[in-house]
Amino acid sequence: MRIILLGAPGSGKGTQAERLAEITGMTHISSGDIFRQAEKEGSELGKLAKSYMEKGLLVPDEVVTKMVLDRIAGNERGFILDGFPRTIEQAESLDKALREDDIDKAVYIKVSQDELLRRLSGRWICRQCEKPYHLTTSPPKVAGRCDVCGGQLYQRPDDTTETAEKRLKVYFEQTAPLVDYYRKKGRLLEMDGERQIEEVSKDLLSKLRW
Ligand code: AP5
Repeated sequence: MRIILLGAPGSGKGTQAERLAEITGMTHISSGDIFRQAEKEGSELGKLAKSYMEKGLLVPDEVVTKMVLDRIAGNERGFILDGFPRTIEQAESLDKALREDDIDKAVYIKVSQDELLRRLSGRWICRQCEKPYHLTTSPPKVAGRCDVCGGQLYQRPDDTTETAEKRLKVYFEQTAPLVDYYRKKGRLLEMDGERQIEEVSKDLLSKLRW
């Protein structure tokens, strides 16, 4: 299967992608995680991505598209795209690269704006494996430590209120049109993302008929 997770920052794409990958064995490809890893390594890609991410802006299409398409090439386990595509141009490049092996579903996780800001401001992430936690809705078992790998938890610099608001604005201007793009292709699957994490993932698995 080839799945895209669509939704605003904080809608739960990363959370659901990780659970889906664990259950199905599909490869989870997160453009944001790849950029954060590159930044940690101090590579040129990381430095470039940081200059956009810290302002809440999108990294240029040509940089992201090549990076993600390289990861998809030769994938045989199926994949879950989390954070890509994010513009119509990226979606068209993906279509071109996949040719007749089109994606199966573009899952749109819908969450209200107030809830998005609440989630972003309470989010903590594992420095090692990038697993997301939330101070109130999904806290780690041991404060400040990842349940899975024991890594240290940190708050993303782009989760400050000012940058998160900018990211939401960019999302509604540049990414939200993708919902219609995939609806017209007959691939859209809409999900109410304002339910418990477990409930969303059970519903998602059942709608994907897994
Ligand atoms: P990226 O890392 O992709 O960030 P994002 O899309 O802004 O999404 P988030 O990671 O903020 O949220 P999410 O939907 O994954 O939510 P999560 O599961 O963590 O991108 C970062 C930056 O990289 C971009 O701004 C851009 O600069 C650049 N970039 C990346 N891809 C790009 C591209 N294709 N083109 C150009 N630039 C690109 O959940 C959020 C919180 O809520 C967590 O604390 C979680 O525990 C909690 N939560 C999740 N689900 C629920 C639930 N059901 N109920 C209650 N709490 C929940």
